[in-house]
Amino acid sequence: MYNMRMNLSVVILAAGRGKRMRSSIPKVLHEILGRPMLQYSIDAVKALRPEKLVVVVGNSSETVSKRINDKNVTFVLQKRLLGTGNALSVARNSLKGPGKDTVLALNGDCPLITSATLKTLLKKHRRDGNVLSFLSFIDDSLSGYGRVIRNDNGDVTGIVEDKHATSEEKSIFRELNGGVYIMEPEALDWLGRIRKNSSSGEYYLTDIVNIISKKRGKVGAYQCAPEEIRGINSREELHEITMLLNRGNVFKLMKKGVTFIKPDSSFVHSSVSVGKDTVVYPNTFIEGRTAIGKNCIIFPGTRIYQSILGDGVTVKDNTLIEESRIRSGSVIGPFAHIRPGSIIGRNVKIGNFVEVKNTRVGDGSKASHLTYLGDAEIGRDVNIGAGTITCNYDGVDKCKTVIESGAFIGSDSQLVAPVKIGKRAYVAAGSTITKDVPEGNLSISRAKQKNLKKWVARKQSGVKKKN
Ligand code: UD1
Ligand code: CA
Repeated sequence: MYNMRMNLSVVILAAGRGKRMRSSIPKVLHEILGRPMLQYSIDAVKALRPEKLVVVVGNSSETVSKRINDKNVTFVLQKRLLGTGNALSVARNSLKGPGKDTVLALNGDCPLITSATLKTLLKKHRRDGNVLSFLSFIDDSLSGYGRVIRNDNGDVTGIVEDKHATSEEKSIFRELNGGVYIMEPEALDWLGRIRKNSSSGEYYLTDIVNIISKKRGKVGAYQCAPEEIRGINSREELHEITMLLNRGNVFKLMKKGVTFIKPDSSFVHSSVSVGKDTVVYPNTFIEGRTAIGKNCIIFPGTRIYQSILGDGVTVKDNTLIEESRIRSGSVIGPFAHIRPGSIIGRNVKIGNFVEVKNTRVGDGSKASHLTYLGDAEIGRDVNIGAGTITCNYDGVDKCKTVIESGAFIGSDSQLVAPVKIGKRAYVAAGSTITKDVPEGNLSISRAKQKNLKKWVARKQSGVKKKN
């Protein structure tokens, strides 16, 4: 049994302009469910544990290498974008022990590729003792792909690019090139033989297939499903492939017992986990390394990013939760914003138009309406009245508000931090609290109310006289 790791290097071609995207962002950096397109190929090839992983960059090369920021990747610059054949030639010089390694070369715009598909190709390549193997597929609805040319014996003799293929060739040769190749060193030796295409001025990597076949080198094309290999050249394809990948993520969770009311309108990153019997309503986004527990309900319009939710949590409509933790049984929203660094305890209620930032809320506490809690430490069973604001920012520093267990904060109060409200203390509605409130005290800080008798009648008669 051969060792798959032995002498395998990978080259990902990612230098192209991506003109068809009509974008100022390099094509391979367009995001799909939270990851740049290029990252998908990088992650897929890593499972093959290559000796060396080279990514060819050209267009906005620094932006690409900065965004990918992966120490396992060697970035190689293709100075002039002279086509895929040229891109691989440029990369070859930087491979470990050039001339020795088997090379897996693949386009950086095919995020559907999986390590399983790649491993299968590698197996078949070695089983059949090919000089070059590549993935192909059939889908008559697609255009823009190279067509695999086979002779009467069924042997692969070349690839003709879609734009250069005659309509007769297109009707005969329906097998499309997937842009994933495995090459032995002798195949790579032919790279220098590729001629510039006279109409496009590019060196096509695909021409190497014809060159090798003429030299009677063994070439194999192995079909896979379009869902494993389709590429992205345009915004429409970006959308279609996003939907395919998303459906995969959602269906994986459905198999584990999660209900999605309308799967195509919930966008779920691959790093998300959700427990049994949780129900996810339409128009929801569950992103990053988010873990949601069992028996939760995620109502419409919600986005949850990089957060942990316990069991039985209800997130009501139009709520945003970012980099926070919500413990079991809590109810959040509608229209709540839980900002980074918040830890919401068990059976807490965070209601309409409540913003929580970098705040710990103890079990059983409630902030039901129109409130800002920032940089606060809130104990258990605290009641925060409507319109309460922690004034955490003095223009220079962020300061802390501590509200101990059992405290009651009356509506429309401002707590000017740093400040502490002791256990079971009361703050009267409408107070501006600038000093600590000791345990069990009532604190009230507002102008005394005066009621002026018959003031309205007097005022109105005064108005009449003037007229
Ligand atoms: C390419 C193949 C086509 C195949 C299809 C599969 C060629 C000539 N054609 O077509 O047969 O069916 O992929 O998706 O290879 N790139 C560089 N440097 C360059 C040009 C391109 O690194 O100078 C990179 C691009 O960033 C991209 C990849 O190579 O990731 C493929 O280039 P693209 O222009 O998308 O090729 P296609 O026209 O899709
Ligand atoms: Ca492409």
